[in-house]
Amino acid sequence: MKITAFILGLLLMGSCQTVKAETLYEQLGGQAAIELITEKLLDRILHNPKIEFLFEETDREDLHLKIVDQICQETGGPCVYEGLDMVEAHSGMEIKYSEFDIFVEDFILAMEDAEIPFRLQNKVLAIFAPMREDVTYE
Ligand code: HEM
Repeated sequence: MKITAFILGLLLMGSCQTVKAETLYEQLGGQAAIELITEKLLDRILHNPKIEFLFEETDREDLHLKIVDQICQETGGPCVYEGLDMVEAHSGMEIKYSEFDIFVEDFILAMEDAEIPFRLQNKVLAIFAPMREDVTYE
């Protein structure tokens, strides 16, 4: 009888762990990690000679806030992204696939800078890579 109760207890503990699975937001390290990734991303894209011309009139602080909220929301965090949708935000910029690739490369390097494990980098990319068609014009 005691053994049955013990096994039942173990099973219950197992199912509780499943229910409490961490969000990607939490796995990344929460708000502080997302702030750091965004900081590193902007350091790169705003000074990357291949795409910096697109950001000539960009208010860094504003873009920072929007990107933090977007990454936070998309990874299951508590934020609400209130910026433009991706088509609207990038319309008229005529962003090419090659420029999108450079952006993604900088995104990966930013996650490296922030010491995000490779396994989690891939999970983040899986969320953002499909936005390519909304952001580019080709
Ligand atoms: C998945 C990829 C991307 C995401 C998630 C993303 C996200 C965003 C967000 C959240 C905004 C702010 C929208 C607003 O103002 O309400 C924005 C604006 C912008 N994005 Fe992107 N973006 C992506 C790709 C790119 C690429 C590839 C480029 C150029 C190479 C780019 C260039 C810009 C520029 C120039 C702005 C306008 C900034 C301003 O207000 O001046 N984005 N993007």
